[in-house]
Amino acid sequence: MTALSVSTSSAASLRADALVIGVAKGPKGIVLAPGADAVGEAFEGKLTEVLTTLGATGAEGEAVKVPSPAGLKAALVLAVGLGEATDGGYGLETLRRAAGVAARTLTGSKKAALALPAESADEVEAVALGGLLGSYSFGTYKGNGSAKEPVGELVLLTARKGSKDAKAAVERALVVGEEMNRARDLVNTAPNDLNPKGFAAIAQAAGKEHGLKVEVLDEKALLKGGFGGLLGVGNGSANPPRLVKVAYTHPKAKASLAFIGKGITYDSGGISLKPAGHNETMKCDMAGAAAVFAAVVSAKRLGLAVNVTAWLALAENMPSGTATRPGDVLRMYGGKTVEVLNTDAEGRLVLADAIVRAGEERPDVIVDVATLTGAMMLALGSRTFGVMANNDELRETLHTVAGEAGEQSWPMPLPAELRKGMTESTIADLANMGERMGGGLVAGLFLKEFVAEGIDWAHLDIAGPAFHEGAPFGYTPKGGTASAVRTLVRFAERTAAGDKA
Ligand code: BES
Ligand code: MN
Ligand code: ZN
Repeated sequence: MTALSVSTSSAASLRADALVIGVAKGPKGIVLAPGADAVGEAFEGKLTEVLTTLGATGAEGEAVKVPSPAGLKAALVLAVGLGEATDGGYGLETLRRAAGVAARTLTGSKKAALALPAESADEVEAVALGGLLGSYSFGTYKGNGSAKEPVGELVLLTARKGSKDAKAAVERALVVGEEMNRARDLVNTAPNDLNPKGFAAIAQAAGKEHGLKVEVLDEKALLKGGFGGLLGVGNGSANPPRLVKVAYTHPKAKASLAFIGKGITYDSGGISLKPAGHNETMKCDMAGAAAVFAAVVSAKRLGLAVNVTAWLALAENMPSGTATRPGDVLRMYGGKTVEVLNTDAEGRLVLADAIVRAGEERPDVIVDVATLTGAMMLALGSRTFGVMANNDELRETLHTVAGEAGEQSWPMPLPAELRKGMTESTIADLANMGERMGGGLVAGLFLKEFVAEGIDWAHLDIAGPAFHEGAPFGYTPKGGTASAVRTLVRFAERTAAGDKA
């Protein structure tokens, strides 16, 4: 991964391949953002003129390169847009994205200095994290030399270097950036190289590395325990399912959180097979499990004073002679029966088992994260996840912390009348499908049936933002995004700080 360091050197004297500054849209053309003063001076006041001539407008996402004049040690100046100019500081997400654009633009170079606004600790963290996330590249399958190396080293310039809060901010960016990039790797790995067993082994190795307790239930243990959802989804595949528990405990914790992730390492749809055009990206169906895994490792590495248990509900959804048929009835963990009307509604089946199992440990809050429904994408588009909950306050809290962390989300309801379609006229307690309209909410209502009495529960449907298919933007590359990781980490931090969920 790209190295990150912090320096109080002046922008003029730091040796680097490129020096990154911010520019914004002022009332009379572009203006330089804080951090760019020394660079402006080296251009003898002509920098905004030169940049304007080169087409710079200060718009977000923009990157304009200028060769350095004498007086700067870096060979190149890269100006990235920050949007409208402000006197009151730039938004943290604006800074994250600008640093991400800079890192992506400088792919292939060895060392870049970031002279972006970084006065407060929050700004330092935003620039650091945006830079690390923007430096991400996934080269596993590219032939030697054909994948461009990400920028080798980022040096963040800030006067705040020595302060305790700035140090903590950089540490936080390093941990969260590394764990998010690991989650992206897991999502991007081809499904023939990441099956439930392999994912469980990765969790075990990371658990060892970071001192987390990891328990894996294999197919025999799942059978013995009666995990009918996981087994029912997994039995069409040559790669059997796993339920992985990754536990982090802190001696001073006053609260316990359970994070549950949908981990379908490939979703073909099963016997209710997806048509061509709908299954090419379905390796991303384990993005929820990757997110909760990244979150629990982050909580441990940051030493948060809260207990966090991640549950990875891992299975591969395939059609075969042993696959679950539409019409089959599964006996779920805990005893409820479910008639499977559509084998492509598999996420809720593996999650239901995990929700019941997690509930046995009586956590204060359960949050599940899942690429659960195409309907949520239709509702919210591909950059926003839906937040549902059995508690209005928790739903609002998660929506709020997502925004604070720089993730787009929106609160969604769980309307009681949509429950009927799942519970009526079936030979089992529930069907795994209900009305087509409001499909994302129906899925949420299904999960709610499995939450133990008295436990606060929220559900994040990340089907849209988990996997980015368009052109890269800000710090978001093509492919896995690590959606929901920052929301979960921030929620854990907030809980550790004693704020009521
Ligand atoms: N994994 C899919 C949902 C999905 C779709 C995620 C597109 C990411 C992008 C899920 O298992 C699924 O197939 N859901 C069905 C449910 C339906 C059969 C009730 C869907 O949304 O069509
Ligand atoms: Mn499916
Ligand atoms: Zn799925």
